[in-house]
Amino acid sequence: MAKMEIEAILDAMTLEEQVSLLAGADFWTTVPIPRLGIPAIKVSDGPNGARGGGSLIGGVKAASFPVGIALGASWNPDLVEEIGGALAEEARSKGASILLAPTVNIQRSTVNGRNFECYSEDPHVTATLATAYVTGLQKGGVGATVKHFVGNESEIQRTTMSSDIGDRALREIYLPPFEAAVKTAGTYAVMSSYNRLNGTFTSEHKTLLTDLLKDEWGFSGIVMSDWFGSHSTVPTVEAGLDLEMPGPTRDRGDKLVAAVQSGEVKAEQVRDAARRILTLIERVGGFKADNIPPEQAIDKPAHRALIRRAGADAIVLLKNDGILPLDLTGRTIAAIGPNAETAQIMGGGSAQLNPHYAVSPADGLRALTSENQLRTAPGVAANRLMPLIAGPFEVDVYGRPDFTGPVVEHQRHPLGEIMWFNTVAPGVADADFSLRATTRFTPSETAEHVFGLVSIGPSRLIVDGRTVVDLREDWVPGDNYFECGNREARGRLALEAGHTVEVVVEYRFVQAIALNLKAIRVGVTVPLDDKAFAEAVELARSSELAIVYAGRSGEWDTEGNDLPGIALPGRQDELIAAVAAANANTIVVLQTGGPVAMPWLDKVRAVVEAWYPGQEAGNAIADVLTGAAEPGGRLAQTFPRRLADTPVETDDPLTYPGSDGHIAYREGVFVGYRHYEKAGIEPLFPFGHGLSYTTFDWGTPMVDRPTFDGEGLVTIRVKVTNSGTRPGSEVVQLYIAPPASRVERPTKELRGFAKLHLAPGETAEATMVLSARAFSYFDAERNAFIGEKGRYRVITAASSAVLRGGIDIDLTREVVEAARARFSH
Ligand code: BGC
Repeated sequence: MAKMEIEAILDAMTLEEQVSLLAGADFWTTVPIPRLGIPAIKVSDGPNGARGGGSLIGGVKAASFPVGIALGASWNPDLVEEIGGALAEEARSKGASILLAPTVNIQRSTVNGRNFECYSEDPHVTATLATAYVTGLQKGGVGATVKHFVGNESEIQRTTMSSDIGDRALREIYLPPFEAAVKTAGTYAVMSSYNRLNGTFTSEHKTLLTDLLKDEWGFSGIVMSDWFGSHSTVPTVEAGLDLEMPGPTRDRGDKLVAAVQSGEVKAEQVRDAARRILTLIERVGGFKADNIPPEQAIDKPAHRALIRRAGADAIVLLKNDGILPLDLTGRTIAAIGPNAETAQIMGGGSAQLNPHYAVSPADGLRALTSENQLRTAPGVAANRLMPLIAGPFEVDVYGRPDFTGPVVEHQRHPLGEIMWFNTVAPGVADADFSLRATTRFTPSETAEHVFGLVSIGPSRLIVDGRTVVDLREDWVPGDNYFECGNREARGRLALEAGHTVEVVVEYRFVQAIALNLKAIRVGVTVPLDDKAFAEAVELARSSELAIVYAGRSGEWDTEGNDLPGIALPGRQDELIAAVAAANANTIVVLQTGGPVAMPWLDKVRAVVEAWYPGQEAGNAIADVLTGAAEPGGRLAQTFPRRLADTPVETDDPLTYPGSDGHIAYREGVFVGYRHYEKAGIEPLFPFGHGLSYTTFDWGTPMVDRPTFDGEGLVTIRVKVTNSGTRPGSEVVQLYIAPPASRVERPTKELRGFAKLHLAPGETAEATMVLSARAFSYFDAERNAFIGEKGRYRVITAASSAVLRGGIDIDLTREVVEAARARFSH
């Protein structure tokens, strides 16, 4: 459709119709206007797959891809672009033409609950991979929604917190991934964040949304709010927030029409937003489709293969004394730990989906071993919540809040966790309903069982007529369901093996909460005891190899709350130490959404970090352990020795976790390795670290313009040879160290990288280009990026700590790149 046609449609629209486009119709779709042939389009989360509409749990099955931190560790834009293409197919299979992804916030705090969704602590890595992701997705005809713009680096009080960020840190660290997604990849959409930026909600931040994004960067797409993150009529529209999500509208509709009629909002502002929505529909081919197709689960062999390959390309070999790769032939193997038989494939929150399948690490090994070679034992548990009761639940919904009167609706839910968006049943007001959910549970052990209950609103758990958990009077929101659900409440009850009990949850709702979400979750377990611990250690002792699958899960690495620290949950450290003492061939496979402390590091022979690699988890891990695949990953986030060493762990609560509604980014640009180098702290594993199964020889870097006037690009080339006997991949990292500067600058900063895949004996050249921006810092007073005249050292490196070569570049004059939008006034 030509521009003129969109203008013609706009001309034909009434004000009310234009306004109707500026908010969702429901949770995942926009408002159609059949009279003018304007269709609804559908959005879907994002980012490690396309979940489709409906609830966060139990939806239509979808392919589960590696999470953001894994893609970050791949340092492989070609791979990420390919994944973007596959995600476009996935989104289409769910009828969605917009994916709510990628997440490009920065891993500022080591314990941010959503770090698993983000790529890196470094803006260049993040920007490069975000560009690749958006490009792949949009080439496939599906729009990207780069999120969360900007300053959403913690989950604590995330819907109200003000991230107070100085201009320099904003421009140098937090904005570049968005800038690249807009300018280089041409993202169709940007999602504003929940938080405030320097006191103003980002959804109302005119400098951010209009002056910077739309005017300075020339963004022609739409800005949508995060879900329920738009809180006003006039300020959001005037700031440049085009789409309020989800729908139906709370603050637009009649309110916005009235604001235009009274002159508070200019009609042209509404028209501009409507134009952007129409352009988006056009860009994703919306006008060509008659309706939104139904959701389908399409499990493609090509996606399976891509996910398996990507998983291995993201796995970081942290330590290896030569025990890996493993020859499994004839060796007895103990697969130990909470994550051996449980596939940890993704993080928690809105990025969750219902995977086609999930291969556990033990299953990955089973495919390669004979029956009597492999034995498993969990040893300890690592769950944050009690494991879900099996379900299904039969639910009776009453139209009164006191569990009496006629049942207005009967529902059946397959799982032990139920979520409702909006109302629990059509026509039943939140304030009025109550419900009783019933299931039956048959214990397999005679033992004391621990039940766990989480709900959004008051509830009670009754087992065979006995109240086991009572949250009727003192229910308070806590650390579940995006800060809307209580901290899991627990109760104990002795049960007999084989004796079925009736489990009932009574639930009602008291107040409207931020996300308009209702939920109940019932878990039950017999806690693992010392006997289970001893069995695992004994298994290690009697096997030739012991592999401990340790880590966290999406219960810990989740949207909605930050992590309590970087120690492995539960007794896992103790277990690893005991296994290592019992078996001299102990290998640890970690699956986490970020760094963990490793007090047992010296005692084990190898450590592999496998992240949450998607549905092929166990296969990708087995590929790397056996050498069928190269461990292709490098850390895109520094692993510290202890939490106290990390950038935002200071005595000052304002820096983290925040106080009085503000979190101040006082460390400025000194995030990640920039911080460790400034503070002289040696991390456990540096940024960029990752071992290979082969060896590489690095050549001397060459530069085409050793004197640079700031115009155009400088090209750096370096040759790398695979000097070993196995194929392998190396990531050439390019850092720039500035000359003495008028401001305090990081010792060095990553400005380029290239991943080379090399056969034994093969040589290839890494080529990296630098523009003047790569030499610059942002000067808040002059509101410009400044490249100071002087001699810069360009360093080629295998990690921020392993430097391979260097070359000087003279910037022959001061280069000034003026910014237009000004944040501080
Ligand atoms: C998250 C977004 C997500 C949205 C829709 C919010 O809670 O912050 O990332 O896209 O929900 O599910």
